[in-house]
Amino acid sequence: MAYTVFKLTDYSETALENVAAECVRACRDEAGAVRNDAELKTFRDRWIGRKNGILTQINDLWLKAAPKDAKREVGRRVNDVKANVEDILQKAEDIQLERATGTPLVRERVDISLPGVHRPIGAEHPVIKTTNEMVRVFQKLGYSVADGPVVETDYYNFEALNFPPNHPARDTQDTLFIAGQQGKPQRERLLLRTHTSPVQIRTMEKMRPPIRIVIPGTVHRNDPPDASHSPMFHQIEGLAVDTNITFGDLKGTLDHAMKEFFGSSVKTSFRPSFFPFTEPSAEMFVSCFICGGSGKRGADPCRPCKQTGWIEILGCGMVDPNVFEFVKDNGYDPKKVSGFAFGMGADRIALLKYGVDDLQLFFQGDVRFLQQFG
Ligand code: DAH
Repeated sequence: MAYTVFKLTDYSETALENVAAECVRACRDEAGAVRNDAELKTFRDRWIGRKNGILTQINDLWLKAAPKDAKREVGRRVNDVKANVEDILQKAEDIQLERATGTPLVRERVDISLPGVHRPIGAEHPVIKTTNEMVRVFQKLGYSVADGPVVETDYYNFEALNFPPNHPARDTQDTLFIAGQQGKPQRERLLLRTHTSPVQIRTMEKMRPPIRIVIPGTVHRNDPPDASHSPMFHQIEGLAVDTNITFGDLKGTLDHAMKEFFGSSVKTSFRPSFFPFTEPSAEMFVSCFICGGSGKRGADPCRPCKQTGWIEILGCGMVDPNVFEFVKDNGYDPKKVSGFAFGMGADRIALLKYGVDDLQLFFQGDVRFLQQFG
């Protein structure tokens, strides 16, 4: 039976949706049945004829007759139906024209002289770029890339790394703990890893020595955001274990890596430090690649190195035998193997390298800032 417009009785959302859909469906069916110019004209008159076309009827019977409080909703539906009907009619006309002329429509041809749509390709984020460059330096030395979970257990983040029970890094001040873990034994409790060092243990559990790995990744600490702190930041960790690895290997490897990364003129300096998982431990500085180690920029003091001529880049040391004890069964007998490890902050290095003075700029996602690195 041909489609007829009735006055509305039910103004609920579903009822309106149904009548609108029914109307559009009817229009589409009728358009599909059009075979020639005469039928197209009948179809057009029936739907959009001024005087008594279906769209006019809908306007009168649905919209004008609608109670005040339903007018808005009905108006929206009517407009929707109109747009659909016009679309269907346009298509029906196109098809009929193609049928009559035997050629595709000009409007459907591609105009190859039009300029294309410009899609910006974006840029690698400066922290990721720095990380990739640093990782590449170690890959060229034969290191593989390893990774591990950001949500970590107390065991991997602390215990197996020889953190004494009351070490300050375990403090709620530093560590972001996952809630609701009190029912579990301490070592199984979940937290956001505070460093990439747990991946040292995870990798040694999986791979027997010798190993040489770099571990890039995100870490979290309970630090309020400011120009040099962020609760989320990035580290690059390294671990080399083999027979007869010495502190000389550590120094040689890191000195080479820094020259490769910052340029061959930088020098390195190792100063004693403490980390629970290395013994001895050191902090490594590179000569300031901004002022060339002089501490001055012209007549002004060099700010990045605080006029010292040296910039602290990473922590490092010889793997503590206590750490090897946790993975002894996988071939890491501290009497037979030795190794060195290091860890650095990728964000800090990116800040220095690109001369950015506020760490927060890295995490705000402002395209105008990021575009500069494209
Ligand atoms: N995990 C340390 C931190 O986040 C950095 C570090 C220091 C890593 C010495 C190491 C290392 O592997 O040997 O502060």
